[in-house]
Amino acid sequence: MVYADVFARSIDDPEGFWAEAARAVTWTRPPSRILDAEAPPFYRWFPGSELNTCYNALDRHVEAGNGERPALVYDSPVAGVRATFTYARLLDLTARFAGVLESLGVERGDRVVIYMPMVPEAVVAMLACARLGAVHSVVFGGFAPKELAVRIDDARPKVVVSASCGIEPSRVVPYKPMLDAALDLAGHQPSRCVVLQREQAPAELGPRDLDWDEAMAAARPAGCVPVAATDPLYILYTSGTTGRPKGVVRDNGGHAVALLWSMKAIYGVEPGDVWWTASDVGWVVGHSYIVYAPLLLGATSVLYEGKPVGTPDAGAFWRVISEYGVRALFTAPTAFRAIKRDDPDAELLRKYDISSLRALFLAGERLDPDTYHWAAGHLGVPVVDHWWQTETGWPIAANLRGLAPMPIKPGSPSVPVPGYDVRVLDAAGHDCPPGQEGSICVRLPLPPGTLPTLWQDDGRYVNSYMSAFPGFYLTGDGGYFDEDGYLFVMGRTDDVINVAGHRLSTGSMEAVLAAHPAVAECAVIGVADELKGQVPRGFVVLKSGVDIDPALLRAELVRAVRDQVGAVAAFKLVDVVSALPKTRSGKILRKTMRGIVEGADEPVPSTIEDASVLDGLRRTLREAG
Ligand code: COA
Ligand code: AMP
Repeated sequence: MVYADVFARSIDDPEGFWAEAARAVTWTRPPSRILDAEAPPFYRWFPGSELNTCYNALDRHVEAGNGERPALVYDSPVAGVRATFTYARLLDLTARFAGVLESLGVERGDRVVIYMPMVPEAVVAMLACARLGAVHSVVFGGFAPKELAVRIDDARPKVVVSASCGIEPSRVVPYKPMLDAALDLAGHQPSRCVVLQREQAPAELGPRDLDWDEAMAAARPAGCVPVAATDPLYILYTSGTTGRPKGVVRDNGGHAVALLWSMKAIYGVEPGDVWWTASDVGWVVGHSYIVYAPLLLGATSVLYEGKPVGTPDAGAFWRVISEYGVRALFTAPTAFRAIKRDDPDAELLRKYDISSLRALFLAGERLDPDTYHWAAGHLGVPVVDHWWQTETGWPIAANLRGLAPMPIKPGSPSVPVPGYDVRVLDAAGHDCPPGQEGSICVRLPLPPGTLPTLWQDDGRYVNSYMSAFPGFYLTGDGGYFDEDGYLFVMGRTDDVINVAGHRLSTGSMEAVLAAHPAVAECAVIGVADELKGQVPRGFVVLKSGVDIDPALLRAELVRAVRDQVGAVAAFKLVDVVSALPKTRSGKILRKTMRGIVEGADEPVPSTIEDASVLDGLRRTLREAG
């Protein structure tokens, strides 16, 4: 098939295109209407139709006679456990956990927050919510109690599902005390918390808590509740420009249609194939490509609890590929940078047979050419960069390996995916010519599976994404098209940063620094890092008259960000400066700061209030080494 034809059809006749894709889903009331475009910029896919996402992910495969096919392979070098769950077994566990939730009063539309490490029970909990028509909100385990509390207050869950601990290679991380601390901070209180006990650090349970195993032993399986295609399946909070996270809403119908289509068209995966996404269920990549897409398709999904290095060594990924016959691997470039750092010549690769592997997919951050060439050279399979966001839930730009493979250009995630009318716009809203950088936008309507709104905040949805260029969705990334129509994504144009493929807001870190009694003002910027792509770096100005040991202050600030945002922020660098560079209207010149920190030959903006401040910044950086 020719890419240009498929793409043109998806843009010229989106309803016909997606109506056809929708046939791959089992509906309890099939769609008769495809797109409700009556109230732009709010669009609804498949209005009036009904389905159950869990039924599509589990029951229908069992009913089709594939109950004995492995659905989930759990491999945890950190816990020393390996286990395979067939579709029939995963269905049984999910139906029973849905019964647990039902017995706790969870009904269609109720929210359930899931704060868990990479264990099969996290997948079971997500699917159990989907089974009941409840709305899950998974919070990544690396976030601190305050971040969890903010999400609990916004989602207002009836029940929270958690585990006693997570396991990082260097330490066991008790989750239950973090959950308790979050509930102390939160205004909203769930009626019950279900806690999975793990032997590495069992938790003390309180009167509100329920032991996962005991609840499951007493549970009666629950059936699938049909929901409207437009009903929310989940809320996933993601970092915006302010410290307050955005609750990205995902619907049921458009999500199932788009993810199923993407598995075959983009990733070239078929039912029964072994597919591995090395990420975390707390991120969108984990939601879409560890849990929903592979299960909707009837593939086998690997759930790996561990890191690419140090569990036990940089050969961990090769072992998993060879052991389970993984056909395609999807992870973030950082994972490969870590492997390359520890095993530069890929010597550990020689110990394993990874001939099952057909392709490596990378996303979540910019794929630097070094990492691309290293991976492509050593693995000998196509290394496919693709670009997407929590908001879209599936790729915006990719190389359609299943439908119409195209040549790969290092540095580019290839071309717009069918359904996404991607445009690069200049400040006046005109299309940029090839080679000229601008704001990457997508002409409305967005395809199925993308965010219909933000949780209970239509106003913020419009302001954040739809206002800058009316009729277009603003991605927040800058970039350009080349003469061949390949898109190059150059980085965020806002204050969102990407640390080891983890999306974080500098605003939330600034809020923590600003709260320190010695700090008058501050800025946090993302600076280049060899391993993590970007890391945050803070600059603080002291209140006048404050006399504090800078080393002590630095330690306090680093500790505060770790305690209040989370270890995952990897906030380790902070300096005291006498002033921050600002425009005459008082806006901090972050881009200029970033340029100076990274040693770029950054021109001094004409809007700067006092250019001598830059010398102070340079001096501080020289002294900090
Ligand atoms: N629960 C608790 N703590 C967590 C956590 C979790 N789920 N995930 C990370 N952390 C902690 C880590 O232990 C680390 O703590 P430390 O400061 O005490 O060492 C900190 O958060 C930073 O974690 P991380 O960014 O993972 O750094 P790392 O140095 O431990 O590992 C990599 C670096 C590159 C190996 C790792 O980031 C990686 O595997 N990245 C793959 C990318 C990925 O999965 N991206 C998701 C989107 S696709
Ligand atoms: P998240 O919402 O966590 O998936 O992060 C989305 C952001 O990650 C995007 O807006 C980009 O800034 C960045 N990103 C994701 N994939 C890529 C990619 N392939 N190339 C460059 N940046 C990427």
